Amino acid sequence: MGTWTYSTATTSELDAIARISGLSFAFAPEDSKKWIERSGLANVRVVRDAAGAVAGQLLRTTMGQFFGGRSVPTVGVAGVAVPPEGRGGGVATFLMTSFLREVRGDGVPISTLYPATQPLYRRVGFEQAGSRFEVRIPVARLGGEPRPEMRPATEADRPAVAECYQRMASHWDGWLDRGRYVWDRVWMPRGQAALGWVAPGAGGGIDGYAVLQQSRPDAASARHDVTLMDIGFRSAAGGRRVLGFLAGFASMGLDLVMHCGPTHPVLLMLREQRWTMTLRDFWMVRIVDVPGAIAARGYAPGAGGAVDLDVDDPLFPENAGRWRVHAEGGRAEAVRGGEGSVRLDIGALGALYAGYISAGGLRQAGRLYGDDAAVRAAATVFPAGSPGMPDMF
Ligand SMILES: CC(C)(COP(=O)(O)OP(=O)(O)OC[C@H]1O[C@@H](n2cnc3c(N)ncnc32)[C@H](O)[C@@H]1OP(=O)(O)O)[C@@H](O)C(=O)NCCC(=O)NCCS
Repeated sequence: MGTWTYSTATTSELDAIARISGLSFAFAPEDSKKWIERSGLANVRVVRDAAGAVAGQLLRTTMGQFFGGRSVPTVGVAGVAVPPEGRGGGVATFLMTSFLREVRGDGVPISTLYPATQPLYRRVGFEQAGSRFEVRIPVARLGGEPRPEMRPATEADRPAVAECYQRMASHWDGWLDRGRYVWDRVWMPRGQAALGWVAPGAGGGIDGYAVLQQSRPDAASARHDVTLMDIGFRSAAGGRRVLGFLAGFASMGLDLVMHCGPTHPVLLMLREQRWTMTLRDFWMVRIVDVPGAIAARGYAPGAGGAVDLDVDDPLFPENAGRWRVHAEGGRAEAVRGGEGSVRLDIGALGALYAGYISAGGLRQAGRLYGDDAAVRAAATVFPAGSPGMPDMF
């Protein structure tokens, strides 16, 4: 392990990096290269072996994630990869540990990722924190406003679309405060331009939008699925307009495919429960800076209280030990001290923080220790919810 180093990738390493991600994610090498170039080599981190060759890599993406109505700065991790000939020797563990040190050094309080395998990420302090489902709704079942006014989106609409998304996302724990990388995945999924429509609103703004791609399950038939890269609206009336517009695909449309957490306003707006939901992924969060993370999220404005934590974090002694978390008026702070009546590891704290599971549930899973009074105190500050994320990165 002593011979590995971690740093930003250089241009001369592009071919090696493209080969490794191609082999790891079954990309054609040229597509792999395009993906890295679009994502920005400056965001790629590599582990080099003693000979200076690339032994492992990841792509970091800076963004935010909404919890309690506030955007918590996070660095997303994508494209973690080690070449087949180098696997099983600890490279990825070294890569992730070095990455987390970098994130902490940058003053970012949490990190978020979609795991292909859990033990690797758990080992460095990530834990399940939310989910992402694929929802399929028969297009003919969408309802909505008949023949609503919608027009194709232009480049000039993108800031208004982003603003509309942002307003909606801030109400949902786990949704991203998207950065450039994730917006690029909305408008250019896998390098193919998606199509957008907007519902014009008063004063030149927009009331809603949909960004989609069409795909034929059976190449011989023109009947197709309509896959949403994104959908957003400012009000229920805006939502009905967007749904009514999408319903216009019904003559040839099979399913509307969208992604979200366990629920979404669209599902509440449908007349019948004729959709199917398939769990695609559980995403994970790592709290990198305990007081920074506690201060960054929002809390229920009416719920005041305090809980004493005793945190186990082998990677960052700065996080480990006793903290008193005090919440009031929608904000909270963690200060050193307290009785340490709730003992938990840093991963369990991430799951609790995200609202993914209650303190009582964590205790049942053997990830939190404390008496009933301590568990109730933890639940007052960190109530469980249903964090989800429409985006994949
Ligand atoms: C997953 C991957 C990055 C691990 O790299 P690595 O350098 O072999 O990992 P490490 O040696 O540090 O092992 C860390 C842990 O990862 C897990 N892991 C490693 N290889 C794995 C594999 N092939 N399948 C499932 N889990 C694996 C193990 O839990 C391992 O710990 P253990 O050996 O104590 O059980 C590598 O196998 C890879 O590139 N796979 C293809 C791409 C991929 O899945 N990337 C992850 C995207 S989120």
